[in-house]
Amino acid sequence: MKILGIETSCDETSAAIVESNKSSLNLLSNIVASSVELHAKTGGIIPENAAREQLRYIIPVIKEALEKSEQKKGMPDIDAVAITVGPGLMGSLVVGVETARVLSYIWKIPLIPVSHLYGHIYANFIGRNPDDIPFPAISLVVSGGHTDLVVIKKHKDIKWIGGTRDDAAGEALDKIGRLIDLPYPAGPTIEKLALEGDPKRFDLPRPMIGSPDFDFSFSGLKTAALREVKAIKKLDEQTKRDLCASVQKAIIAVLIRKTLKAARKYEAKSILLGGGVTANQSLRDELELEIENSKLKIKLFVPTKSLCTDNGAMIAAAAFFQKEESWKDMQASPSLHF
Ligand code: KG4
Ligand code: ZN
Repeated sequence: MKILGIETSCDETSAAIVESNKSSLNLLSNIVASSVELHAKTGGIIPENAAREQLRYIIPVIKEALEKSEQKKGMPDIDAVAITVGPGLMGSLVVGVETARVLSYIWKIPLIPVSHLYGHIYANFIGRNPDDIPFPAISLVVSGGHTDLVVIKKHKDIKWIGGTRDDAAGEALDKIGRLIDLPYPAGPTIEKLALEGDPKRFDLPRPMIGSPDFDFSFSGLKTAALREVKAIKKLDEQTKRDLCASVQKAIIAVLIRKTLKAARKYEAKSILLGGGVTANQSLRDELELEIENSKLKIKLFVPTKSLCTDNGAMIAAAAFFQKEESWKDMQASPSLHF
């Protein structure tokens, strides 16, 4: 069975084909067009600009995804179309949702609505046998729009246990990056600069690290970073590196502490990372080390880096575990939650 997955919830326009055979979910193609250069000029996403670009990209991106999956000419060999219905920017979601609705209607194939957040979780299932991921699992979804912890008892039984009360971790990285003139999105640059920075130079808070719940808060960290930047007379390159290392360390410490706490409480057999921030190598390495040191019997799963940030493949992968819906009823839901 082959599913075409379409993702347009934020600034990316992506289409991918994922095939399931007896033992695994295989990626046949994954095309991502980003309008990030446009947003870099404005220092962030202007929703109307994002949707306008997505309108231009959507058909060429789907065509390329079909071609790369070695489809023959004519009616494509696709069994269903999966689409992100939310959460995300309304204008951006509508571009994908309306395109998917039309494809389902004219190709006469099922349409499967998918939550973007489920997509980030199911990126972990691509390229492997789904049965290799043991449940219960804890998933940490951490991106520009979300920082959420969920417990997965089995497919279709996903329970949200906590999330950020203000800024998402990626949003905090992007905002702090902007303070020190890093290009948008700042996460990857912060990671690069942090490699040569001193994480102990700035004593930044680790908000809610010891709180009894599974919630997060990153806006205080952003304010603390702003205070440090204002106090610095000369923001030289080494100071920027040190600030990046200190910020990254603080964010990673909180993410890891809460994830492991959830894993213990729910006796998780696996931890699944997902979302753009989980492309961060230090986060991946430090969590792996902490699991090893804790002697917990937990398997850590991380998607390949290109599948951490937004993509259509994760939407197609999630669709294998979701129900179809009539093309007539499907709606974009910008504030969809887990
Ligand atoms: O999942 P994603 O592509 O979009 C949303 O659903 O929000 O995540 C984008 C976020 C941005 O905030 C970006 O700065 C962050 O992920 N990000 C990273 C890295 N790559 C992307 N943060 C830290 N380290 C990275 N390597
Ligand atoms: Zn995302």
